Amino acid sequence: MSKHVPEQLLALIRPAVRAAKPYLVPGARPVSVKLNQNESPFDLPPVLKRELLEAFFQIDFNRYPSEQPTKLIQALESHCGVGPGSILVGNGSNELTYTLGMCFVEEGDAVLTPTPMFALYESMVRLHGGVPLQAECTTDYQVDCDAVVATIERVQPKLTILASPNNPTGLAIPKKEIERIVKAADGFVVIDEAYHEFNPEGAALDLLMRYPNVIILRTLSKAFGLAGLRLGYLVARPEIIAEMMKSRLPFMVDRLAEQVGLLLLRHQDLIRDRVDQIKVYTENLRQAMMQRDDIDVLPTDTNFILFRTGHDPAELLQNLANHDVLVRNMGGYPQLKGYLRVTSGTPSENKAFLDALTTVLG
Ligand SMILES: Cc1ncc(COP(=O)(O)O)c(C=O)c1O
Repeated sequence: MSKHVPEQLLALIRPAVRAAKPYLVPGARPVSVKLNQNESPFDLPPVLKRELLEAFFQIDFNRYPSEQPTKLIQALESHCGVGPGSILVGNGSNELTYTLGMCFVEEGDAVLTPTPMFALYESMVRLHGGVPLQAECTTDYQVDCDAVVATIERVQPKLTILASPNNPTGLAIPKKEIERIVKAADGFVVIDEAYHEFNPEGAALDLLMRYPNVIILRTLSKAFGLAGLRLGYLVARPEIIAEMMKSRLPFMVDRLAEQVGLLLLRHQDLIRDRVDQIKVYTENLRQAMMQRDDIDVLPTDTNFILFRTGHDPAELLQNLANHDVLVRNMGGYPQLKGYLRVTSGTPSENKAFLDALTTVLG
């Protein structure tokens, strides 16, 4: 038996897939201070975890969950203040990003993705045979809204994707500018609001009430601290959700994730407190980093900070990892050569990062 898969078999795989790169978190390794994935530093309080154990015993593991969990959807509808039929839930917002691709992107379709932006969007577009159109950011790393509007008016892409606040820059797009983009577009405008809880500008969700071409994507991975459970949701007009229901994978939200989501949506005061704390921790961390004149620090509307030193970022990352602190190298984005990204942790995690940085930079 041959050990290798013959090339003519591999050639049967779609060229867009063969040309793609797998989504992997580079440099991931076990460390004590993990500040590389914009996660919440807060796990669920033990008292709530115990409450979940009870719910866990009530779950029939042998039964499928519903295609779209009704109670969770109702709780999210009331959380967002939207009517029935406006929400689709998924296995993290990443899954819903792929559902967008299945629903909208055909071979040769132009999709506008201002750069730099969360890399998954570009891979989703390419995997579906679409063509990402890139509007470069301004020199201060803001989304160049004039360039975005000009491209929309020239091409009228089916989809324009915005992330506000944006990852990897941490910067929000002013709401008036988002509205200008939405108005200019004949196609859909997807607004990824993974970090909206941290955004001083507030959410763009209300645009949905006025403009039928708005689609909002959100996650419980960040402010809600559920990255390990995988829960995300998409909000759009019911006619759009009805169509997306045809292109989504069924049963993507399991019974346990549904219970955890429901529990946290009943404890929004806890989430609000934690968001307030994280905002303070992030600002304190940024101020401490700005004390050094050998670090370039960007402002942030999120729970993470983009920064650059005179050192090679890969080397700096490695040196910090040797001190048990993990951050992320953003040099893969052509506009962000030299930059690293640090997620704000707890004060003691941030101190460990700052101490390691001081040791490494001298
Ligand atoms: C802008 C943005 N959207 C989506 C996600 C992924 O969210 P989820 O964990 O729900 O798949 C991330 C994660 O880092 C992100 O930064």
